[in-house]
Amino acid sequence: MTAAAPATLDPRVDLGRGLVLPNPVGVASGTFGYGFELEQLVDIQRLGAIFSKGTTPRSRPGNRPPRVAETTAGMLNAIGLQNPGVEAVASEYAPRWAGWRVPVVVNVAAEDIPGYVAVVRRLAGVPGVAGVELNISCPNIAHGLDFGQDPQAAARCVEAVRRATPAPLIVKLSPNVTDIGAVAAAVAAAGADAVSVVNTYLGLKVSLALRRPVLPGAGTGGLSGPAIKPLALAAVRRVRQAVSIPVVGVGGIQTAADALEFFVVGADAVQVGTATFRNPAAALEVLDGCLAYAAAQGLRRWTDLRATARPADAPGPTVGPGA
Ligand SMILES: Cc1cc2nc3c(=O)[nH]c(=O)nc-3n(C[C@H](O)[C@H](O)[C@H](O)COP(=O)(O)O)c2cc1C
Repeated sequence: MTAAAPATLDPRVDLGRGLVLPNPVGVASGTFGYGFELEQLVDIQRLGAIFSKGTTPRSRPGNRPPRVAETTAGMLNAIGLQNPGVEAVASEYAPRWAGWRVPVVVNVAAEDIPGYVAVVRRLAGVPGVAGVELNISCPNIAHGLDFGQDPQAAARCVEAVRRATPAPLIVKLSPNVTDIGAVAAAVAAAGADAVSVVNTYLGLKVSLALRRPVLPGAGTGGLSGPAIKPLALAAVRRVRQAVSIPVVGVGGIQTAADALEFFVVGADAVQVGTATFRNPAAALEVLDGCLAYAAAQGLRRWTDLRATARPADAPGPTVGPGA
């Protein structure tokens, strides 16, 4: 008898509508630009995906500084969607991405539904654009709330975008809601191929010496980094229970062990965000650690890990190496 061939892992992840990531670890929107700067520092072609900076109908200068502030185990940002606008992205950046192995998914933001529709229409069919990630954590100028804070507003936005583009459509959910599962279910029914969970949490940092918020304007910002990991994990598990479409987990991932926690509670893929600011190779190190874990576990398909966490009160021994 010959020994069985060792299991070889298929690390690909299918996010739907033809968007198949070469592996499950990507980089999060707003923390990796459009890929060009980091290309000088790390082998970005090994990444599972690059989720671009938020891209709007027209260029935006962003908010006045300071735009970021350090917090305990995290950071607060109020960048204000600084970006060159969709025309520059489609005509200048996408042709460069078209020669890349790593898929680039364009993160899209707007103030109203016609704005979202205009951006995705301009990107539709453009070589180099692998898909669209819809940031619905944007204030809805008609209703005052973020689209992502109301399941019906979120669904209306996604329906309109779905009609406007054949591209793979990932909807990035806001965590600043009562039940993120309800929003996930609404956008899945409206035509999302996948969801990213989560965007930043609303936060505030105050200078006692100055008796005022540290960030300008409203003073609030989006909280990211290790501080939000337990919150993001709970959100991913809730969304996994609510929908059957793929879930991309994001929030506070610094290490492979962090990422693996997201997979076992239900993520199909993950994004590394804030960790890249301290270590540009963070996502690649997370990827290598995940692949080593999969090999040690004898996994054949990456997706075999998905949602394998047992109930908190499950009896018996722990499972596998490093458990
Ligand atoms: C400086 C900064 C800019 C961001 N810009 C965007 C953006 O344009 N669109 C978006 O959907 N998310 C944006 N995010 C949110 C991240 O993509 C991610 O969802 C969040 O930071 C949580 O992940 P992390 O803790 O790994 O950073 C931004 C985050 C940071 C820190």
